[in-house]
Amino acid sequence: MILVQKNLLLLFVLLVSCNGEDKKIYLVLLEGDPIAFQHVKTISQEGTKLDPNSEASKAYANELTKSHDEFLQSYLERGSYDKIYSFKHIINGVAVHTTPSQIKKLKNAARVKLLEEDRRVKQMTTYSPQFLGIPAVWTQQGGDRNAGEGIVIGFIDSGINPDHPSFAYDPTTNNSFTGNFSGACEEGPLFPQTSCNGKIVSARFFSAGAQTTTTLNDSMDILSPFDAVGHGSHVASTATGNFGVPVVVNGLYYGRASGMAPRARIAVYKAIYPSIGTLSDVLAAIDQAVLDGVDILTLSVGPEEPPEDKLTFLSLFEIFMLAAHKAGTLVIQAAGNEGPSPYSVISYSPWAVGVASCDTDRTYPATLILGNGLKIAGVGLSGATAGDGLMIQYNKLVLAKDAIKINTTLPRIAINNAEECQYPEAFDPLVVQGSVVICTFSAGFYNGTSTLTAIIQTARVLRFKAFAFVANPTYGDFIAEPIPFATPAIMIPATTDTQNILQYYEKATVRDANGLVVRYGGRAAISEGRYASYKGRAPIVSRFSSRGPDYIDQSKSPTDVLKPDILAPGHQIWAAWSPMSVLDPILSGYNFALMSGTSMATPHIAGVAAMIKQYNPSWTPSMIASAISTTASTYDNLGEPIMAHGFDLYTLHTSAPFGFGAGLVNPSGALHPGLVFSAGYEDYISFLCSLPNVDSRIVKTATGGICGQLFENPSDLNLPSITITSLNGSRIVHRAVTNVESKAETYLSAVLPPKGVTVNIEPSWFTIAPQGTQDLHITFNVTQALDDFTFGEIVLTGSLNHVVKMPLSIFPISTKM
Ligand SMILES: *[C@@H]1O[C@H](CO)[C@@H](O)[C@H](O)[C@H]1NC(C)=O
Ligand SMILES: *[C@@H]1O[C@H](CO)[C@@H](O)[C@H](O)[C@H]1NC(C)=O
Ligand SMILES: *[C@@H]1O[C@H](CO)[C@@H](O)[C@H](O)[C@H]1NC(C)=O
Ligand SMILES: *[C@@H]1O[C@H](CO)[C@@H](O)[C@H](O)[C@H]1NC(C)=O
Ligand SMILES: *[C@@H]1O[C@H](CO)[C@@H](O)[C@H](O)[C@H]1NC(C)=O
Ligand SMILES: *[C@@H]1O[C@H](CO)[C@@H](O)[C@H](O)[C@H]1NC(C)=O
Ligand SMILES: *[C@@H]1O[C@H](CO)[C@@H](O)[C@H](O)[C@H]1NC(C)=O
Repeated sequence: MILVQKNLLLLFVLLVSCNGEDKKIYLVLLEGDPIAFQHVKTISQEGTKLDPNSEASKAYANELTKSHDEFLQSYLERGSYDKIYSFKHIINGVAVHTTPSQIKKLKNAARVKLLEEDRRVKQMTTYSPQFLGIPAVWTQQGGDRNAGEGIVIGFIDSGINPDHPSFAYDPTTNNSFTGNFSGACEEGPLFPQTSCNGKIVSARFFSAGAQTTTTLNDSMDILSPFDAVGHGSHVASTATGNFGVPVVVNGLYYGRASGMAPRARIAVYKAIYPSIGTLSDVLAAIDQAVLDGVDILTLSVGPEEPPEDKLTFLSLFEIFMLAAHKAGTLVIQAAGNEGPSPYSVISYSPWAVGVASCDTDRTYPATLILGNGLKIAGVGLSGATAGDGLMIQYNKLVLAKDAIKINTTLPRIAINNAEECQYPEAFDPLVVQGSVVICTFSAGFYNGTSTLTAIIQTARVLRFKAFAFVANPTYGDFIAEPIPFATPAIMIPATTDTQNILQYYEKATVRDANGLVVRYGGRAAISEGRYASYKGRAPIVSRFSSRGPDYIDQSKSPTDVLKPDILAPGHQIWAAWSPMSVLDPILSGYNFALMSGTSMATPHIAGVAAMIKQYNPSWTPSMIASAISTTASTYDNLGEPIMAHGFDLYTLHTSAPFGFGAGLVNPSGALHPGLVFSAGYEDYISFLCSLPNVDSRIVKTATGGICGQLFENPSDLNLPSITITSLNGSRIVHRAVTNVESKAETYLSAVLPPKGVTVNIEPSWFTIAPQGTQDLHITFNVTQALDDFTFGEIVLTGSLNHVVKMPLSIFPISTKM
């Protein structure tokens, strides 16, 4: 429904024409090593950071740029193309703007490995630290002022609002931060050099793709790291916003906001503009962020759809993330907002962490009270119609349709859409002034042309006492997210409630023979809706959160990887905003916004990862990802299995790893995981080479990796989960765990087998020395063929109380080998 999409998805449409000879941007992967890997020939060097400022790196960079220019010159007609980017840090390739007939000439060029058309990219639009038990972690680890110290998180998004208190530099804290990070501060409109203030350590923007594809609008597509949207600021403050920043909206104090790792530093990579987001700009940002040396890369943005005619794992976007992982950078990405359908994840690869979204136990209850005492629950951050709230003061209740001016010369649309309260001119001011006016969801909201902003404007101009925006039985229920209303207002998203309201209204209203109202007898009031209640069941997987299983191609054949990986709060998250708010006029002027989306869940995981990296600087990306997964919880605050919102708005159903991955992130557990499952670049290559219908040539072309040691099955990739998409009879799956604690520990295994499957672990118990590794052989046998996935869990419990959990998602297709 429209309201939820407005909040969740800020959609950036790529405005290329499909017309034959219009130019498009093409992404071209070329033969030859990029800078980061030119000397890295052995696994032991994997993850070592290169020095981008060394003479050798600079010389090599120049050489690559020159070779790109020569390459394009030698194949394409002069004047027929523009080079948009030279990718040279983690990937060797170019983005080029040219015509389809020119690009044909590159298709068979010897040096070209992959060729892909640019795609559109979208954003996948704080109490949460308390909800996740973060203050206890902060206390354990030396206080909130220290959490994340020394770590740089890179954000590829819509930029940042540098004037926000969540990003202010705190002069009482340690300013000697250097690390091995080397960024830059690119100045521009609304972003002076002083914006890089020590909290924001670097800020860049990438716009060549956007500028090539469309004409940018100077007043909102600002060519600097400044965030005109709010999304980028929201994401960054959720991960690393300063500690204890008061959230004040419309003069009301909503509490204090803190990032998950308030001392981590921010490196901004703006690549999304209000008018457009292109994959070229996002890839250029990834290339640069890894070169700069960010520890963690946060992507609350991504391509809208799976790649056409390619494996999901082998699109250029995934290949860039693999290269980032190879260079030692942990990539955290949003799982997508395409739920609750199965196969809706848009995070595919085992080398990136895909984050699903859940509700917290906080709600903002709002109530419409009718004159007959009936109380109707709704949504909206608004004050009450009557001042101090002890005595309910009722006001006249008016259905907007009944208050239309008679005999006017207004345009038809104003009359036709009057029930949606979009046009103040349509109403008789004397009827609506001081009244509680019922505005109804109708055709204009359904097709996206009507807005809440327009209702607010109508209410202000005509001095409504309040408005109630109600669902319409013709269009069904809608999903409403709390929006701060400066004057009393409420949204009633359920049509059954609308029917109760209208029943009361009609009974109280006197009409003449023509149906015109003679007397308004109905009364209503709106109660305070800005106070949080913490009674809800939580976590609950958000309805919009994309679901597994993971899949390998557009035909959606499932694959042996669990997606999403992990669950974090992403529903109604308070965080920093940009008052310019060019895409959400309803939030313009605000410094904080309550937003929902897997975009909001992703930075929670980035913040937790920053803390893990802070205390374990030598851990590789897969070790950090494993620690986050194996310690997650699959139970909610009632001690029951995590539930999910589904298609039906009002009933919950039991969720599964395809909804929540390993479960709700548990930050304090993740800092002390006991054991980790570790995997490196070579393992991912072996994984790719083991996929059905994938030959070594495809893998080599896309990644440069050589298929050496194959896995028996792709399920042998050493992930902290086991997924088997078709178990025929029996399969042995291999895993290896490494002890990352400082003491030897004895672990005992236990299994909760999926239905229709037996699971046997060898060895069933083991003692493991610090830094030691233990191989595990896990045998799955089908006892009953089923027609869907079934789920279970392996739990390794250590004598020093470490608990290591691994979700099992198995599709038993046949009992016989
Ligand atoms: C400041 O940070 C640096 C680098 O992280 C560290 O070596 C130093 O001990 C810190 N100083 C204080 C006073 O915390
Ligand atoms: C910087 O890199 C060097 C060499 O890789 C490493 O020894 C050192 O620990 C790093 N410093 C920090 C603060 O990460
Ligand atoms: C540019 O953006 C501003 C502010 O959002 C808007 O008012 C204006 O109409 C836009 N101009 C064009 C040409 O789209
Ligand atoms: C509206 O128009 C009708 C027919 O033209 C007329 O009979 C009626 O008196 C008008 N009402 C008002 C309030 O002007
Ligand atoms: C949307 O619906 C309104 C109200 O029915 C109508 O006036 C308008 O033309 C429609 N616009 C589009 C683009 O469909
Ligand atoms: C399972 O494997 C056997 C032997 O390889 C094969 O004959 C059978 O068709 C397979 N069953 C299914 C359902 O794929
Ligand atoms: C699983 O199946 C294999 C091969 O059919 C068999 O050797 C093994 O004993 C079975 N294991 C269990 C626990 O059923």
